[in-house]
Amino acid sequence: RAAAPFRNEPIRDFSAPADRASLEAAIARARERLGRRYPLVIYGERLHGGRTIPSVNPARPSEIVGDVDEAMPEQASRALDAAAERFGTWKFTPAAERAEFLFRAAERIRATRDDWNALLVLEVGKPWIEADADTAEAIDFLEFYAREALRLAEPPPLTPIAGERNRLVYLPLGVGVVIPPWNFAFAIMAGMSAAAIVTGNTAILKPSPDAAVIAAHFVDLMHDLGLPPGVLNFVPGDGPTVGEQLVTDPRTRFIAFTGSKGVGLRINELAAKTAPGQRWIKRVIAEMGGKDAIVVADDADLDAAVAGVVVSAYGFAGQKCSACSRAIVDARVYDAFLAKLVPAVESLRVGDPASNPDVGPVINQKAVDKILGYVEIGRGEGRLLTGGTRISGDGFYIAPTAIADVDPRARIAQEEIFGPVLAVIKAADYDDALRIANDTEFGLTGAVFSRSEERLRRAEAEFFVGNLYLNRKCTGALVGGQPFGGFNMSGTDSKAGGYDYLLLFSQGKSISRKI
Ligand code: NAD
Ligand code: ALA
Repeated sequence: RAAAPFRNEPIRDFSAPADRASLEAAIARARERLGRRYPLVIYGERLHGGRTIPSVNPARPSEIVGDVDEAMPEQASRALDAAAERFGTWKFTPAAERAEFLFRAAERIRATRDDWNALLVLEVGKPWIEADADTAEAIDFLEFYAREALRLAEPPPLTPIAGERNRLVYLPLGVGVVIPPWNFAFAIMAGMSAAAIVTGNTAILKPSPDAAVIAAHFVDLMHDLGLPPGVLNFVPGDGPTVGEQLVTDPRTRFIAFTGSKGVGLRINELAAKTAPGQRWIKRVIAEMGGKDAIVVADDADLDAAVAGVVVSAYGFAGQKCSACSRAIVDARVYDAFLAKLVPAVESLRVGDPASNPDVGPVINQKAVDKILGYVEIGRGEGRLLTGGTRISGDGFYIAPTAIADVDPRARIAQEEIFGPVLAVIKAADYDDALRIANDTEFGLTGAVFSRSEERLRRAEAEFFVGNLYLNRKCTGALVGGQPFGGFNMSGTDSKAGGYDYLLLFSQGKSISRKI
């Protein structure tokens, strides 16, 4: 398996009736299993916690996808002991054996892809193609990191030194706490967990309460495959309680976090404090938010630019760190751009992801309140072109919203909204557009639409983002080909799905022998 070069898992488009029918059947099957209870998993043992947290379908909040046990403090502490105990043997398990668990997990997920997709549709409200891309990315992370672990197990070439034989080997760090967001409920959760354990660390996965059921299924799968107890422990709970307990504990060696800027900074700060008995500087891998821009130059193909902006801004209701939340448009094509943008946004079908619309709900009531709060701010900061309302009905639906004539320093042009809200900003020229694009504390993704080679090269040199796209959308980075991570307040630029990623979960030991 490892001999075959890594290739991305193809994503379905559901135009084939057979693909549609099999996902519909999987959604129906998943509905029959809703409402189950999901216990903690500590050293392979399934345990009930202090209370359960319901994970609900954002399209039908009365539908409980699952009740997930929340860890009590002594259980979170027990999980750290369990992970520390297992680390003693797991760290010596050959990389090939560790990688095999990832290869086999990828194989099983591929074979049951519709069931995972159905869970993503129901638990986090993903339209089908978004669900399938999330599952495909989870498979990609497993396949890619398995191969990467095998590569790192081979000592790299070193400069020869006369009279000595030298080697550099990569060792695991210890017990890691994995804290994923809810939005790439499968891929980021499985990717960070897989990277942690394939490198020989043991881990405690604290899932997002909004996406804990899919995480529970992943942990079950790993145990079904025979993963030794204690390697991957499942400790659900709220961030400020269970999350902070795990982050601050001196037994924790590293934290792999993906989520919002505020929480990432808080974790970084907490992890920097040395607790009594702690023997290391905790390592923090933190990937955070974005205020991603697409620049539309006056020589752009406007149809392509509008299509790129619409899919980037409203795909998965704008709930991607990579989503386009600022369109920065040259004044010479500004009105023409808006004239094409508005009908394109208004043509989006909003509805229950179970019936595969273009745009589904946002994740919860808190998100509705936050997004509508920003819409109100935006009404004062610009001109509402379309949307701006909650769509009546059961689910957490917000109409795709575009606000024009926004000042580059306005709040809706600076703060991450994380919903289907686009700020359109007029730039005097291309220089001005690049300046505005960089005028943010974030630096995650960005795109430029232009027919000019010189302008595209300038963007390569001057547009300060971790993932830059030219003449295409700014979402949908692929594992292996487009390592993903951002600059500045977007995070530590860990480049998930890249060739440096596993080094972040490892430490190098240099060994020299006199000969
Ligand atoms: P969030 O920051 O609210 O939560 C992320 C995780 O942190 C959850 O598991 C949560 O329970 C936990 N948490 C919350 N408070 C905590 C605390 N005090 N201590 C420890 N853990 C705590 O983010 P979210 O709403 O789940 O996800 C959306 C955010 O994630 C957006 O800002 C988005 O841009 C970002 N994101 C970034 C990337 C990336 O690669 N840069 C990818 C996906 C999402
Ligand atoms: N990796 C995801 C994307 O590129 C966040 O859209």
